Amino acid sequence: MVSVLRAPGCEDVNEQWFSPTYWGGKAEPVSAGGRGSAWFVHSPSGQLVLRHYRRGGMVARVSERRYLFTGEERTRSFAEFRLLRELHDQGLPVPRPVAALVAKRGAFSYEAAILIERIEGALPMPEHPEVSSEALWHRVGQVIARFHCAGLDHVDLNCDNILVAGERIFLIDFDRCRLHPDADRRARWKERNLSRLRRSVEKRVRPLQPARLERLWQALIAGYESRITDRNA
Ligand SMILES: Nc1ncnc2c1ncn2[C@@H]1O[C@H](COP(=O)(O)OP(=O)(O)O)[C@@H](O)[C@H]1O
Ligand SMILES: [Mg+2]
Repeated sequence: MVSVLRAPGCEDVNEQWFSPTYWGGKAEPVSAGGRGSAWFVHSPSGQLVLRHYRRGGMVARVSERRYLFTGEERTRSFAEFRLLRELHDQGLPVPRPVAALVAKRGAFSYEAAILIERIEGALPMPEHPEVSSEALWHRVGQVIARFHCAGLDHVDLNCDNILVAGERIFLIDFDRCRLHPDADRRARWKERNLSRLRRSVEKRVRPLQPARLERLWQALIAGYESRITDRNA
């Protein structure tokens, strides 16, 4: 059994749209910053990103693509679709969700996929030519603070999930993320998000000297603090 959730205006999306082979040459694997199960798709409704949900690490050996089914609304793809809509409606910089798919496999398991609007000209932060500009890191800090003020706990905040497109900065990849709208100003999960990001920066933005990297990180924290204080959230 297959269920597809569509955004308004995306009624032409069908089950096949979630299969990269259906698109032939019109789907190309994303090379930068992902886990290898995302494709850029040239669809009749514009440029999209298709992502299949996959596990990493040890559990992947048991089942890479299947998850325990406990109701449609709790599936990875439907939950991420709804969260993206909510964030987008709040005016936060996220790509628009287009459609989400759940395919039941037997009574207890499912596979999932999502289609999202592709942000034109976007590059993951580590690939961006301005990755060593303090001004960019300052703005990234401000953007993260906006999400935190809205209560968004990004459980996989790494630098590849921060996209830079010209003057604009987006967060992506909201699988398993949660909203805590009434969170404290200094909630623990906010610190966890930032330390996760810090670790990924150390791994991924390697060619920079440690002292340089530290200055960039301080610029990010300054941007973050400026927004948290401004809004008194
Ligand atoms: N909406 C988007 N617009 C442009 N590029 C995207 C978009 N979503 C994802 N990408 C690209 O695909 C990569 C992987 O996507 P992501 O959603 O982070 O999945 P995962 O990390 O699980 O593979 C990103 O690092 C980015 O390079
Ligand atoms: Mg990612």
